[in-house]
Amino acid sequence: EKGTYPHYMLKEMDEQPGVVRKIIQEYSNDAGELAIDEPILKALRDADRIYIIAAGTSYHAGLVGKQYFEKLAGIPVEVHISSEFGYNIPLLSEKPLFIFISQSGETADSRQVLVKVKKLGHPSLTITNVAGSTLSREADYTLLLHAGPEIAVASTKAYVAQLAVLAIAAYVTGKSKGIKSDFDLKTELAIAANAIQSIVDSKEELHKISNEYLSKSRNAFFIGRNIDYYVSLEGALKLKEISYIQAEGFAGGELKHGTIALIEKGTPVFALVTQAPVALNIRGNVKEVVARGANACVISMEGLDEHDDRLVIPKVHPLLTPLVSVVPLQFISYYAALERGCDVDKPRNLAKSVTVE
Ligand code: M6R
Repeated sequence: EKGTYPHYMLKEMDEQPGVVRKIIQEYSNDAGELAIDEPILKALRDADRIYIIAAGTSYHAGLVGKQYFEKLAGIPVEVHISSEFGYNIPLLSEKPLFIFISQSGETADSRQVLVKVKKLGHPSLTITNVAGSTLSREADYTLLLHAGPEIAVASTKAYVAQLAVLAIAAYVTGKSKGIKSDFDLKTELAIAANAIQSIVDSKEELHKISNEYLSKSRNAFFIGRNIDYYVSLEGALKLKEISYIQAEGFAGGELKHGTIALIEKGTPVFALVTQAPVALNIRGNVKEVVARGANACVISMEGLDEHDDRLVIPKVHPLLTPLVSVVPLQFISYYAALERGCDVDKPRNLAKSVTVE
């Protein structure tokens, strides 16, 4: 029930800090350490390559998940859009593990890949919010998101939950392979939950930002580098699907290879600056678009901030920034849709689970 909330989406965005805390709890063992079930751990450890299959927002979570598994568990990862995978199955490694990421567990495009993969005899793991869903029942293993029902068509808390569960799975796998990490994920996730809370609490400011940058716009850009690029893709999808503003997520460095031609006076550009090694480069891209008249909204992380950044998010571990930086983008999209009188929870042409291929 949405109770006093005007929209499920607003409620679900507000629930995000609690979702991360719940996941920490659900994935802690009796000794209080992060853990996943032994058979799943073994399947992950045994894989020489992971193939992540997903659609939409879940695909965007998969792009971040690739970094988690490669950096924390030393396993190479490919991420594929489920509807495209079947046409051109890549050369598979000797011991592949397929990971299906799906909030609903019902996405037909992903299921058709699972059917193929099972025929080929490869192991599969579904990461889903819905216990007993098709993808969960048909895969060998399941990791649950524990995000609680997500009703709004725009996925918010499930994305954050997907990132948290992917991070835990990668971290625990790495540990069990004897890979030393220089941080404690449990502590860092708790810090991220608090950071998300502080953004949720600043929603009035995010409403203002939304009005400032989007009230008159027909299009918008989201840019970032490295992990921020993947969040840009998600920010753009959120804005498109609920406000119908045409939006594009872009790798900062790729803009000058064509797309910068679209920047004109007043074009809103949201730039994420959460990664120290590329902070100067993305700030350079901001200067390039501003020189062409863009209305740039820089969202940076504490420690990398400069005096004229529009929003500064609390400092979190560099791998966990997507859990936090996506939240202002969700709220900005929500308010843009609200101001335009759109049906926030049920945008036109869309369904919560896409059960046709
Ligand atoms: O249930 P799934 O995660 O498999 O759904 C995949 C996409 O249809 C979904 O993420 C879609 O992109 C959302 N409406 C995005 O907010």
